[in-house]
Amino acid sequence: MPDRDTAVLDDPVAAALCGPHAHLARRHGRAASYHPDIASISTLTANRDAGVWDDLAELLGADAFALLFHCPALPPSHWVSEFAMGGYQLIHTGPRPPRPRRAADLVELGPADVPEMLALVERTRPGPFHTRTIELGTYLGVRENGALVAMAGERLKPPGWTEISAVCTAPEARGRGHAATLITTLVHLITARGEHPFLHVAADNPALGLYQRLGFEIRTEVTFRGFRTP
Ligand SMILES: CC(C)(COP(=O)(O)OP(=O)(O)OC[C@H]1O[C@@H](n2cnc3c(N)ncnc32)[C@H](O)[C@@H]1OP(=O)(O)O)[C@@H](O)C(=O)NCCC(=O)NCCS
Repeated sequence: MPDRDTAVLDDPVAAALCGPHAHLARRHGRAASYHPDIASISTLTANRDAGVWDDLAELLGADAFALLFHCPALPPSHWVSEFAMGGYQLIHTGPRPPRPRRAADLVELGPADVPEMLALVERTRPGPFHTRTIELGTYLGVRENGALVAMAGERLKPPGWTEISAVCTAPEARGRGHAATLITTLVHLITARGEHPFLHVAADNPALGLYQRLGFEIRTEVTFRGFRTP
């Protein structure tokens, strides 16, 4: 496996929007964001002075939601803070996991599956997921009796890395290894491209233990911050 350049993970949103996801970026001055139907995640290329927050406000428009993964300085006081949530960024450092036994049961999800994916996200709350989020990468699902009961996919793509995201299983289908199979299959897909898998998790989410058992280890603590533009 090629050497890992972990520096791009310090601000993976900026690295993705300047790199493999440049075609999906909206920019204004020193602010950048995805289209809101794809991801509500934004970044500031230099956030030490208040002017960068004006750039972000103009980019997103009034009373819009901004999610930041990397935010060393806070916005001016007329911005509304919606939440600040502690979490971790993990990178896959384990050996390439054995090929999942049940990979044949997995289906690749596409635009026709989005309504079911949104319904599963609504029930399980794995994190932000929107009508066009699947444009960010490959999304895989597990169907039981035709119904989508689990899914996971690819989100941020800083150069050399792919983030695994939207990992969720319907409550009635948990404990059957669906999440482990989905994550392991995505790790296979990502590493087969010569990239490295990483992911983010809230500090109090029990999924952290599952990720660690699957070969991920904590690289750094992060604070996810949600703001509303003035
Ligand atoms: C985290 C989540 C995706 C796990 O899904 P899952 O398909 O149940 O996961 P798996 O079956 O692969 O593994 C779950 C672990 O819990 C154990 N488990 C056993 N019974 C369980 C049950 N009824 N419910 C949940 N987990 C159970 C499994 O044995 C496994 O532990 P192990 O790795 O030590 O074997 C699921 O709980 C979920 O959707 N949570 C809400 C959304 C979320 O927070 N996603 C993560 C965002 S970062």
